[in-house]
Amino acid sequence: MSQHLEHRAAFETHLIGFFYRQWLMYQKPWPKGTNLSGQTAIVTGSNSGLGFQAARQLCQLGLTNLIVAVRSQTRGDTAADKLRKEFPNSSVSVWLLDMASYDSIKAFAKRCETLPRIDITILNAGIRTDVFRPHAVTNHEIVFQINYLSTVLLAILLLPVLKAKKPTSPGATPPRLSLVTSDTAYWAPPFKSPGPVLVQCDESENYKPMAAYPRSKLLQQFFVSKLAEYVDPNDVIINLSNPGLCGGTEFGADAKMGLFGRTMFTIFQGINGRSVSAGTNAILDAVVARGKETHGNYMSDWTIQPFPSCYYTKEGQILKERIWEETLEEFNFAGASKIIQDMKR
Ligand SMILES: NC(=O)c1ccc[n+]([C@@H]2O[C@H](COP(=O)([O-])OP(=O)(O)OC[C@H]3O[C@@H](n4cnc5c(N)ncnc54)[C@H](OP(=O)(O)O)[C@@H]3O)[C@@H](O)[C@H]2O)c1
Repeated sequence: MSQHLEHRAAFETHLIGFFYRQWLMYQKPWPKGTNLSGQTAIVTGSNSGLGFQAARQLCQLGLTNLIVAVRSQTRGDTAADKLRKEFPNSSVSVWLLDMASYDSIKAFAKRCETLPRIDITILNAGIRTDVFRPHAVTNHEIVFQINYLSTVLLAILLLPVLKAKKPTSPGATPPRLSLVTSDTAYWAPPFKSPGPVLVQCDESENYKPMAAYPRSKLLQQFFVSKLAEYVDPNDVIINLSNPGLCGGTEFGADAKMGLFGRTMFTIFQGINGRSVSAGTNAILDAVVARGKETHGNYMSDWTIQPFPSCYYTKEGQILKERIWEETLEEFNFAGASKIIQDMKR
């Protein structure tokens, strides 16, 4: 564990750290000669917001094949048509993926086997809500379900597919897989300890949206940092990317904030939020401009940034193991443990 990162964690968690990130971190130019010609990318939730902009920026960089992975055919077609018009040289396909359905996630990962190559995968689809809502089938709280459980399951299922498709030419960059996370994880309330962790995300009593969302992103960070230990970065580079607070996306549009809350948030976001283009650029930095050094890391502000302070404590490492074990148990039905063990071969 890098001591430098550990020491920075307190600063990043502080409000000054937040404003520093939002105001003083500047977008880095793409490395000279960046060209994605011949490459294939998958972006989930790419019909709107950061996902759509990620699709656009990838096409701008000359991407040959783009998979727009969305839950609505109509919204996907609308987005794809815009991209086809702007980038006639890129092939854009709409594939259905509902992150609220394990069957859909499994079918999507299976379908990815049919692609001749996959260079970049961005798991961007995510939600925020203001009220406790259990998933109709799994009964898990919906933000925890979509942002954490479903996203992590898709990442696990895609790993062997990406590995099987890694380019064989010498010096070629391995496939990159990034989970779009959030710096709100710095402010996630601690989990009660000892005892099971994941079940705490399903507690409906005293439900706090400003706890559920950061926690879902914190869990991603703990899990991916452990998952990376099982994956050779020569096979697949897996990391987490944070766009920072961005204005102008659909994020939380259906949240019932009330007029006052929404007005205040919109003003705050308008003053401090990055443009969608800058936020997207920060995500793409993790999969386009960087390489194996990002494996298992949290990428934010065009560099590797620390996980939340708790990650670097003894308790944090115990928490990481518990999150890992409980998550794999949850995914017994999908054979997740075996898939991960097999990545070592
Ligand atoms: N905006 C920010 O300030 C910010 C900051 C940090 C991190 N992030 C993260 O960035 C990601 C994108 O957010 P955004 O701001 O671009 O929000 P957005 O405009 O609301 O985009 C979210 C995307 O996720 C999709 N999605 C939601 N539920 C889904 C499901 N069950 N199955 C498949 N797709 C689903 C949405 O599809 P529909 O259109 O069909 O709903 C939409 O395409 C999220 O993971 C978010 O946590 C955002």
